[in-house]
Amino acid sequence: MGSGIAQVAATAGHDVLIYDNNPKALQRTSDKLQKILNRLVEKGRIDDPTAKAIFGRIYFVETLASFRECGLIIEAIIEDLKIKKAVFEELEDMVPADCILATNTSSLSVASIAAACSDSSRVIGIHFFNPAPLMKLVEIIPAIQTSPEVLERAQKIIDSWGKLTVVTKDTPGFIVNRVARPFYGEALRIYEEGIADVATIDWAMTEIAGFRMGPFTLMDYIGNDVNYKVTETVFQSFYYDPRYKPAFTQKRLSEAGYHGRKSGRGYYDYSEGAEAPKPNKDKILGQQIVDRIVAMLINEAADALYLNIASKEDIDMAMTKGVNYPKGLLKWADEIGIETCVKRLDDLYHEYLEGRYRCSPQLRRMARDGQTFF
Ligand SMILES: NC(=O)c1ccc[n+]([C@@H]2O[C@H](COP(=O)([O-])OP(=O)(O)OC[C@H]3O[C@@H](n4cnc5c(N)ncnc54)[C@H](O)[C@@H]3O)[C@@H](O)[C@H]2O)c1
Repeated sequence: MGSGIAQVAATAGHDVLIYDNNPKALQRTSDKLQKILNRLVEKGRIDDPTAKAIFGRIYFVETLASFRECGLIIEAIIEDLKIKKAVFEELEDMVPADCILATNTSSLSVASIAAACSDSSRVIGIHFFNPAPLMKLVEIIPAIQTSPEVLERAQKIIDSWGKLTVVTKDTPGFIVNRVARPFYGEALRIYEEGIADVATIDWAMTEIAGFRMGPFTLMDYIGNDVNYKVTETVFQSFYYDPRYKPAFTQKRLSEAGYHGRKSGRGYYDYSEGAEAPKPNKDKILGQQIVDRIVAMLINEAADALYLNIASKEDIDMAMTKGVNYPKGLLKWADEIGIETCVKRLDDLYHEYLEGRYRCSPQLRRMARDGQTFF
């Protein structure tokens, strides 16, 4: 992630310093950036002098002390609170008093990282999506300690890099990694219940619902180890709210090393000559799968709005620009009809009697009052 973010900043005209405590990783990053820039030249996206200028603005440094003149530092090291806190504590004394200290964490609380600094008002979350140069969305997460001035400055800088920023509350998963949970979780539940196989669920979500990738293809792409870990972290961080409960199916895949594409096997077999399983293209079954997963996604988006995680515009933009959803979920809810969404959720709740299927008060009140999101 660090190298992608560095590429974005250097392309926007900044001098960028990259530090990694593993010299081999630093060399790999340099090689990778050089390769990516060369490829952009081959494809005609940028010319050779531009590529050289971008690379020329990137400096690979061997000590944190080299950051002494930086105005913004974006930390993208290992996802470990203790290690991140130690780095922030060390950095704070070396950099100018007005330097913004940002973290790219996906799952840790920004407040807990900020607490490592004696001036925590200059710490903020700036969360990019992978790959950073291609994904437009960036979540900006002020911690409760962050000053309004730092929030404004940070957002302005990232906007000036051509990114779309959304401001979100410092809660587990921020917007995208919270609202997207049912895309995986409900698909896994449908599979575990034996309602449909993975190929059929993927077919329904791409062909009928219009998602670019089905949930199982996407989990194999992200890596089942990574996706399982995010789900588990979100579940624990929400004090074991049943809505975010991970699935044993994915846990077992992760334990077995069936991580997906990168290991050659996940929900699908990626070995040479392996035959792709054929979906059951039953339209009625497909629509039932879509209705169930989309209702759960809408419920999550509505609940994020209900709890003031972000504005309705930002929640919809986050899902279309951060993870390429075919439509904003709240706009989708308006199209389906809020009353229909509530009925689908209530039907699931009455069938299973699990807290996982409880309808957000946001949707229930809107249905009662005949309101729409937009
Ligand atoms: N991978 C993603 O899709 C993604 C997306 C958004 C955010 N993030 C977040 O970005 C961060 C980095 O993730 P990643 O996938 O790039 O991880 P990664 O493991 O690929 O890279 C982390 C790098 O940090 C270095 N490192 C570890 N400890 C260090 C220290 N004390 N000082 C300096 N360098 C140190 C490692 O050598 C490694 O090169 C995490 O916080 C992650 O949650 C990742």
